[in-house]
Amino acid sequence: MLSPTKPGFKKPDLTSNTGGIISPNPFWLASAPPANSGGQIMRAFDAGWGGAVWKTLGQPIQNVSSRFGAVGWNGRNGVGFNNIELITDRPLETNFREIYEVKKRYPNHAVIVSLMVETREEWKEIIQRSEDAGADGLELNFGCPHGMCERGMGSAVGQEPKINERITGWAKEFAKVPVLVKLTPNVGDIRPHGLAAKRGGADGVSLINTIKSIIGVDIDTFVPQPIVGNLSTNGGYCGVAVRPIALHMCASLAREPDFRLPISGIGGIANWRDAVEFMLLGSSSVQVCTEVMLKGYRIVEDMIQGLEGWMMDKGFTKLDDFVGKSIPHYSEWGDLDLNYETVAKINPVSCIGCQLCMVACDDGAHQCIHPNADAAIRVPVVDESECVGCNLCQIVCPVQGCITMEPVANGFPTASWNDHVEHGKVLRPKKGAH
Ligand SMILES: Cc1cc2nc3c(=O)[nH]c(=O)nc-3n(C[C@H](O)[C@H](O)[C@H](O)COP(=O)(O)O)c2cc1C
Ligand code: SF4
Ligand code: SF4
Repeated sequence: MLSPTKPGFKKPDLTSNTGGIISPNPFWLASAPPANSGGQIMRAFDAGWGGAVWKTLGQPIQNVSSRFGAVGWNGRNGVGFNNIELITDRPLETNFREIYEVKKRYPNHAVIVSLMVETREEWKEIIQRSEDAGADGLELNFGCPHGMCERGMGSAVGQEPKINERITGWAKEFAKVPVLVKLTPNVGDIRPHGLAAKRGGADGVSLINTIKSIIGVDIDTFVPQPIVGNLSTNGGYCGVAVRPIALHMCASLAREPDFRLPISGIGGIANWRDAVEFMLLGSSSVQVCTEVMLKGYRIVEDMIQGLEGWMMDKGFTKLDDFVGKSIPHYSEWGDLDLNYETVAKINPVSCIGCQLCMVACDDGAHQCIHPNADAAIRVPVVDESECVGCNLCQIVCPVQGCITMEPVANGFPTASWNDHVEHGKVLRPKKGAH
């Protein structure tokens, strides 16, 4: 990859436009504790963040203590993160005054104000006050899966397309700045909910908010976590563990022909590669919460540098050159070529002979990695005639690049399940079906 310091380096333009909300780069703080106050957001902008979605404003609430939980793996805590926090617990006047100050000092950064209230009158008033304070855009929080939904807000709205459409319609009636609708992942299919926001007039959507969850149980006290006295409740799950779910929801909407609205991608973004993946699947901007909570605002430096370097390497000069570029490669299962075939190949030079691949293939796949005929050699042997190309051995191999999945020229022409059903195309014989 080209170094940004190399002579002749011309930085790509990272300016991002999400439904009319312009920011100097696509990296935004998500509406959450890192975007709770003006002082924090100004420090984040100084660190390099291009935008911030203010911690959701609404009628004053009281939070509980404790309120976070985490799952760890391999020495890193917070791979999955859970919270039972509600919206802002600071006075509305304080928030609006700070929004005004931030916008005065950072006129070119995007300040999006997240909102959650109940009645039409309340929406009208809070939108007016947000715009008076200088908001560049609004984000309607239809996603919070705990506390607020019991009061008829948050995911209670996001799960009901008719209510989503109606409240989005109110917001669009009152707002002069762009309106994004933040969707809840706590639904079977995200598309009807994105389409409802579109019918309501939204300028774009943000997704995902958190996933309804119980993070764990204290097996000594029997109380689920996070513990509030001797009770707990379900919370919202986020962090890197949720990224695949978020990517799928982003892509589902991006490839929906009737949708075609800008998307601000959220969910488990921890570095520039994650951000690029969201953008390739249709996000114009990306939002980060958990990784900032765990590591601080400075992670954005690496995100910006990594994105610039990758764009240079690919010859992209602006974000629109690649936003959505992976969508044509995402299809239905019935369109996949059933005659395409790969097999695992082990590189005997890099193999350390740990035989983890053999155990995995024996117990979890198709029993086709065998000990070397020469007992003195620890490098196992793949029986390619039985290998179904499932990838499991490659996933467990501790040596990167040691196992590669190689395409096989099997002589069969392309044939998907749909081709087979509709046109009687011939499928290659099954392997590993003993
Ligand atoms: C402690 C905490 C508080 C949050 N508060 C809000 C909120 O007030 N409004 C909102 O729209 N989303 C809220 N979220 C959700 C995040 O904005 C984001 O959608 C979610 O955490 C997924 O992103 P991540 O995986 O980067 O954390 C909160 C998340 C956490 C962890
Ligand atoms: S898991 Fe990888 S390193 Fe270990 S034996 Fe298999 S191929 Fe070799
Ligand atoms: S790809 Fe799957 S079937 Fe083939 S050797 Fe690896 S684990 Fe076994």
